[in-house]
Amino acid sequence: MSLDAADFDRRVLIAPSILSADFAELGAECRAVEDQGADWVHVDVMDGHFVPNLTFGAPVAKCIRPHIRTVMDVHLMIAPVDPLLEDFAKAGADIITAHVEAGPHIDRTLQSIRALGCKAGVALNPGTPPEAIEYVLDRLDLILVMSVNPGFGGQSFIPAVVPKIATLRRMIGDRPIHIQVDGGITPETAPLVVAAGANSLVAGSAVFRGGSVADPAAYGTNIRAIREAGEAARVRA
Ligand code: DX5
Ligand code: ZN
Repeated sequence: MSLDAADFDRRVLIAPSILSADFAELGAECRAVEDQGADWVHVDVMDGHFVPNLTFGAPVAKCIRPHIRTVMDVHLMIAPVDPLLEDFAKAGADIITAHVEAGPHIDRTLQSIRALGCKAGVALNPGTPPEAIEYVLDRLDLILVMSVNPGFGGQSFIPAVVPKIATLRRMIGDRPIHIQVDGGITPETAPLVVAAGANSLVAGSAVFRGGSVADPAAYGTNIRAIREAGEAARVRA
């Protein structure tokens, strides 16, 4: 799908997080969630330093790239982040999201991501106020609002982020910036964040539960349930 600003709208996009996939089957898992209706594939990179967990780096991202037809949405939970941006761009990331807490020069980081030809995202941890990104809005294509503390799948949604999403939605005005929410998204929590202004929903455990590469129908059922719950809230909002 296109990520051009001209094609931008606020329909609900579902981005399954492959953190909850079978890591021995990553390519097949990406194909399976796309076949079952995913809009983007969310790729969580953790360094065991910025977050207390370790996943994989650019070489693995590069290997899964040919298995993604939609959008490779790379969420970097690493510090420092600047030295590795080029590797992820070369690995084929469409969107690269860096944490505002990961380094002192977020403006430079966002400029670098765009200069590498990728869409630029910034992530905010649950405790980080929206004002942290007030002066970089024009360098952004996506704001990722963490609704859990980053590091693990399967954690409980933190409701205090809902008013922060609403504040960010007001701050961006007419800018073609996606508001993404990541952590604890289910058919129960999706309406809360969409009503507040989110349009891109990351979900790991709520997409992958009950299915497998050999039997992926549950992925489709799960994706549809989250999308329908979110879209119903968008129409009401
Ligand atoms: C957490 C990751 C998330 C995580 C979401 O640090 O950034 O993308 O996989 O998992 P669930 O949907 O299970 O909370
Ligand atoms: Zn993530």
